[in-house]
Amino acid sequence: MPSRRALLYMPGDDRRKIEKALTLRVDCICMDMEDGVAVNRKAEARATIAQALQELDFGKSEKLARINSVGTGWERDDIDAVLPFRPDGIVIPKIESLEQVEWGSKIIEAAELQYGWPLNSIRMLVGVETAKGILNLREIASHPRLDGIIFGGEDFAASIGARRTRDATELLYARQAVVTACAAFGLQAIDIVYIDFKDADGLRAEAEQGAGFGFSGKQVIHPNQVQVTQDAFTPSAKMIEEARRIVETFEASQKEGKGAYALDGKMIDMPLLKNAQKVLVRAKAAGKN
Ligand code: COA
Ligand code: MG
Repeated sequence: MPSRRALLYMPGDDRRKIEKALTLRVDCICMDMEDGVAVNRKAEARATIAQALQELDFGKSEKLARINSVGTGWERDDIDAVLPFRPDGIVIPKIESLEQVEWGSKIIEAAELQYGWPLNSIRMLVGVETAKGILNLREIASHPRLDGIIFGGEDFAASIGARRTRDATELLYARQAVVTACAAFGLQAIDIVYIDFKDADGLRAEAEQGAGFGFSGKQVIHPNQVQVTQDAFTPSAKMIEEARRIVETFEASQKEGKGAYALDGKMIDMPLLKNAQKVLVRAKAAGKN
């Protein structure tokens, strides 16, 4: 699975922002047709994204398109407008059931067959951002076409009537529910947007908190947020070094017949090894080591 430490949105009707995104070395570019686009600009967004997919070189950045949610009446035209130009994946927001995931998967599969692309080569990520979506995480996360789940904090707060705070305690349960469901099904978990895009320190703190919770990446909405976020989701040199030492010493201790042992005054056993291995996997995905 491609690394998605930062997933940058821009309004799909804004060609200038799409072109700007190509210069940012961002893991993932998500051209939006949903809430970033005014109702009277949906058609323009479809056309602009279709053209961008045909004309622009996205380099190493993944190219995703986010359609409107199932039931809005726009979703079918959105997906039909962009699929023929082979985005790397489709994002479907406000997913509340397995049936809605299946709706998208069927359409993508039909395109793969029609154009002779390998089956499952176009990936899918879904937004879970309502109370119903959180309750149905288990069935949603089980769909085999999914790469990841994106947690929409603002929509979720609106859905439950929570007041947003800086430390996001009102989202804690749902964020952890998303991380847990994703871990259970081997999916990436993508954390909330930090909307105050001039506050780099606040963003860094929230991104590090999300990485600490087990999220694999974070949604971002402004060029200033890309580097800070990608850094926060890349294991530090110190973390990598510690993880390497655990992996190395663990094997030796197993050979000596010890399940648990001491390293630098701390107990190491199987769960710590597993966590260390995860750190190394993430480091590798981020191009380190
Ligand atoms: N992607 C790519 N480029 C972006 C960008 C984004 N999300 N947001 C801003 N830029 C560009 C601007 O076009 C500008 O480029 P320029 O100097 O070449 O003109 C530069 O970065 C600086 O932008 P700035 O003036 O600071 O911001 P703005 O006032 O133009 O835009 C927002 C502010 C919030 C409207 C804009 O960041 C945005 O549209 N974000 C994404 C919104 C979205 O998609 N929401 C839905 C998902 S949550
Ligand atoms: Mg949303």
